[in-house]
Amino acid sequence: MSALPGRTQVGIVGGGPAGLLLAHLLHRRGVASVILERRSRAHVEGRIRAGVLEQGTVDLLAASGLGARMAREGLVHGGIEVAIDGVRRRLDLAALTGRRVTVYGQTEVTKDLVEARLAAGGAIVYEAEDVSVHGFDGERPTVRWRTAAGEAELACDFIAGCDGFHGVCRRSVPADRIRTYERVYPFGWLGILSDTPPVSDELIYASHERGFALASMRSPTRSRYYIQCDLDADLADWPDERVWDELKLRLGPEAAATIRTGPSIEKSVAPLRSFVAEPMRFGRLFLAGDAAHIVPPTGAKGLNLAVADVKVLSEALAEFFATGSEEGIDRYSERALRRVWRAQRFSWWFSAQLHRYDGADGFARRLQLTELDYLTGSEPAARAFAENYVGLPFD
Ligand code: APR
Ligand code: PHB
Repeated sequence: MSALPGRTQVGIVGGGPAGLLLAHLLHRRGVASVILERRSRAHVEGRIRAGVLEQGTVDLLAASGLGARMAREGLVHGGIEVAIDGVRRRLDLAALTGRRVTVYGQTEVTKDLVEARLAAGGAIVYEAEDVSVHGFDGERPTVRWRTAAGEAELACDFIAGCDGFHGVCRRSVPADRIRTYERVYPFGWLGILSDTPPVSDELIYASHERGFALASMRSPTRSRYYIQCDLDADLADWPDERVWDELKLRLGPEAAATIRTGPSIEKSVAPLRSFVAEPMRFGRLFLAGDAAHIVPPTGAKGLNLAVADVKVLSEALAEFFATGSEEGIDRYSERALRRVWRAQRFSWWFSAQLHRYDGADGFARRLQLTELDYLTGSEPAARAFAENYVGLPFD
């Protein structure tokens, strides 16, 4: 990339949704940035991730000029269903909260962000190898990397670590300055994508004695399904027929009677993890998105949390560059973490109710069923759940 400057205001490590949206929001406030991404553009745009956007996420994307295709192609959902041992009950999110969610794949959000970035003439360096961050305790941090053309260095005022859970930024912080909290779950999700119409107009989250299942979608003609599986599940043991049979059992007889099956066009197993790193700021290095926290996918909070982080961070950085005030950047970590822990609580709770835990006894299963019965039978319980599912307001 010949036009790459040797210095910028914000060096952004990672070109996933967090890094791309941060660059976009900064650009709209007149702050320059450069994105360094380890993978290729095709790889980043091809990754399949969750697909439910909170209303606040949708509103933010729309207000920053990213809403056109989402408004055309996104599916607005006013409710979800919970299937409890095959019996479906609906939670009317719109009636309970006045808010809705939008089903629009993260893959699509990412494509829209890349397009906006390139249209604005912004720099994204793809296939940047061996990225490293330096000097973030001083006033002049730098980012270094290697490309096919050789070594490169970028001087920055700030560095944003948007490089995901396995990135380099969090690992660059001395161990005595960072604290991490973690839960790993003793199961994974096996996901399939298929060009078949969704089984229902809304998502179905299923708790079944055989394990969790989720019926989701990407469009009126493309479905996304998940089933709880062993962590070491081998895809060779899961031909499509077996996945469909298992889905029919777990989603219940009504769904089994109407589900449209077909060949999978993608199939993969993902582990579940809850993780938080504190704080999210170290001098002139900020962490945002998966670099700082991971939630299990139950409830689809991951992307929404990344969006909330970069909203707060972009405002803080813009304020600093406009006025010299450090108040926003000083408060970033605390503000972001408050929301992060709320989402952790919600995602952990929802995961705990829906999954089958090996070794759990009858008492534990009865409690799960009672939680779900209460959730779907009590308006206050449903409302408390719904306000989290559609997304708590930005504070
Ligand atoms: N150098 C440069 N880039 C890196 C490095 C590195 N050392 N390590 C990782 N990256 C890149 C990855 O290739 C990826 O494109 O950083 C990006 C991080 O993107 P995501 O993993 O998508 O994380 P984030 O942008 O925080 O997105 C929020 O929440 O739960 C999730 O699924 C949701 O991925 C979504 C995320
Ligand atoms: C998805 O469609 O991929 C999806 C939807 C809802 C979730 C998780 C994943 O809670």
